[in-house]
Formats: sequence, C-alpha cells, structure tokens
Amino acid sequence: MADLLLGQVLSFTGDPFLDGPEAARLDGAVLLEAGRIRAVGQADDLRRMAPQARVTDYGRAIISAGFVDAHVHYPQTAIIASWGKRLIDWLNSYTFPEEMRFADPAYAEEVAARYLDLTLAHGTTSVCSYATIHPESVDALMAAAQARGQRIWTGKTCMDRNAPEGLRDTPQSAHDDSAALLARWHGVDRLSYVITPRFSPTSTPDQLAALGALWAANPSCLMQTHLSEQLDEIEWVRGLYPSARDYLDTYEAFGLLGKGGLYGHAIHLEPREKDRLREVDASLIHCPTSNTFIGSGLFDMGGLKAAGHRIGLATDTGGGSSFSMLRTMAAAYEVGQLRGRPLHPSELWWLATQGSARALHADHQIGNIAAGMEADLVVIDTASTPAITQATARADTLWQALFPTIMMGDDRAIRAVWIAGKLHQR
Ligand code: GUN
Ligand code: ZN
Repeated sequence: MADLLLGQVLSFTGDPFLDGPEAARLDGAVLLEAGRIRAVGQADDLRRMAPQARVTDYGRAIISAGFVDAHVHYPQTAIIASWGKRLIDWLNSYTFPEEMRFADPAYAEEVAARYLDLTLAHGTTSVCSYATIHPESVDALMAAAQARGQRIWTGKTCMDRNAPEGLRDTPQSAHDDSAALLARWHGVDRLSYVITPRFSPTSTPDQLAALGALWAANPSCLMQTHLSEQLDEIEWVRGLYPSARDYLDTYEAFGLLGKGGLYGHAIHLEPREKDRLREVDASLIHCPTSNTFIGSGLFDMGGLKAAGHRIGLATDTGGGSSFSMLRTMAAAYEVGQLRGRPLHPSELWWLATQGSARALHADHQIGNIAAGMEADLVVIDTASTPAITQATARADTLWQALFPTIMMGDDRAIRAVWIAGKLHQR
C-alpha cells in the first residue's frame, strides 16, 4: 500500500554551509511505497502516479527527513540532567554506577525500549549509540530498534582501565565480544555494528590495538570514540600516553583513525589534529547541549566546516541535557553565537538530518527526502505552543517560520513520525 503525504515537504539539494539557504527546497507532496520514497513533487502529479495511494493531508505542517542523532549513550537515559559535575567526576558519580546496572539484561531491555520511545516522540528516527561493556546491552538496543524497523548503529563500549570493577573488560574479551556482536548484528535489517572504544583514558594501549585490528578486519563498520572534550581530560591523556604527539595520536597510533571514524566533541583540537582529521575525512560529532551542560567548551563549527570537515550533530544523551534534536539545534545556534558565527536555520536543520547522516556514511539512505531514499520522516507543527505561534505570526519565509520551533520547540512540535514508510504510533 502506497501512502501519499501532503504538506510542506522540506528537502536539501546541497549543503547550506556551502550553497546557502537556497540548498533547501519545498514541495507539496511525497509518495511512499515499500518503505522508500518513490517520488517528491506536486500533489496532483503524485496522485496521478499512484491513484490508489492512501492520502494523509498534514496541511501547513513541515514534512522533513527524520532527525539523525549521531552520538548518544542510551544507557544514560535515566541519569540525564544530573546536577553539578564536570566530565571525569560526572562519569564516576553518575555514569559508571548507572552503566553497571546493564549487567541485568531485563534492565537493558527496559531502558532500550524507553529510550527509543522517548527519541521517536522527539522526531528522531536514527541514532548512533554507545551501549555499555555488557554484550547484552547491545542485544537489547538492536532488538528494540529491529522491532521498530529503525536504522540504528550501536556497539559494546570497551574499557579495560580507569573504570570500576564490574565495568572493565580486557583487550582480548573486548575484541572477541565485539567480533561476536558484529557477526550477530552488522547488516541485519537496518542495524549496524560500531566498534566502540569509550576513549583513550579507559583503554590500555593493548586494548586500542586490539580494536584497531578488529576495525581493519571489518572496514564496513564505523568506529566511534571521544576526542578532546575537556581540558582536564586532555591533561589526563597526556599523562597516560607520554609518547603520543597529541590526543588524536593515541587513536592514530593504534589504527583507530580513519574515514568511518566518529569523534565525539572534538572541541580543543591542535592544528595537527584538525589537519589529520580532515585528511582522512573523519567525522566530528558536535554535541552542544552536552558541551554547555558539562562545561566542556565551544565547538568551532564555522572554522571546521569552512576547512571541509565532515560534521554531524548529536544530543550526547545523558551528558547532553535533552533527547530533542530541536533543542540540540538551538544549543548549536547558541554555541555558534558565542563563537561569533550564528548558524542559519537551514544549516541547523541540515546538520540534524543530512549532516548527521553524512557523518554516519548513510546519506544515500537516510537524512533527506528524495526518490529512492528510505522513508523515515518527521512531521513538524510550526505552531505547537502559544509562544511559538505568536513568534511566527509575521514570518515571510520558511526559515522565519521554522526558527521559533528550533529555538523553543519540544515533543509537542512532533505531529507524526514515519519509519520505513510506516506511520509510527506513539
Ligand atoms: N567521555 C568518555 N565517556 C563519556 C561519556 O559517557 N559522556 C561524555 N560526554 N563524554 C565521555
Ligand atoms: Zn559521548
């Protein structure tokens, strides 16, 4: 059964950072069939193309690609918005005790379901998540996403030092458990495995080397980790890896730098690190609500985009303080303001859809509305609250009408979510 959705269908024909806001276009209708987008265009043309299609009219609402959250920790769902700590204390006080609970598969299943329900309610159709060190925590999120038909990425978080007893693996077990999970899940339905060393401080050089070898043997996998989030963390890395040239070198030396590598935060980068990340076309993932919440610093979106870096946008739940990519776009705007580079709404929306999909090397599948792409869509009400409605009263352009929702919108702005061409019932 085909579905014809009517509304203001927003898609990108280019990257607004390079091509300006003209890189976005509006159409009146989108036709979905067999999980994919069959056509985008004028309602009458698409009706003629598929006279049998079921029609849903969303009126003035915006129909966009579903949001893509390129860096989250689903196991931190329950500790989101925990007060008063910076990175290392925050990990020890809140994160590690909570991640310990994922030794219980029933708890992992409960949180995985809750996490996907929360993010879908906020219009996020794809995520790239860390799990915990427990293989069952990967099984839980993969199975929950599979049941919902979602395209997601996740991997077992590997740590063999500087983490509490019960939350440490070894170089060998990290390699072998990751390899077994990869064999079980990678490429099954819409699921992908991501090789996941948490960050250099919680891995020995032997563990980084073992995971570098696993990545070399499985080049179709992405690899995710953290890079240069806080100054204290960078000092710690310097002490733990005295012969490394810089933080990035701790990954580079062990085969963990490359295209398909996802580096979360990447705030305090040395010139050499920026150059190498650009040379290999690695992905940098900007997590603005996390960076302000944990007090990490201000990502240089303007400078890094201008230098040609591949960049995605993410909540970093639960270091990030929201499940919403709208709130995340707002925080990216605010960080941009503090760096003297206000991001245009088209740039923000692109980052939350195409940019993140591109960072995950999936921009041919998700993150835009175009014929042949997978039909993951979010329908946005641009008048979801009285405050937003009055702020849009004099809007002349699409972006003027959308910006108050970016800055003030929440799950009330999400009118509907479609996953692989099926309406997702909340
Ligand atoms: N660095 C290493 N682990 C984490 C984490 O769980 N959250 C954040 N924000 N940074 C990290
Ligand atoms: Zn993170």
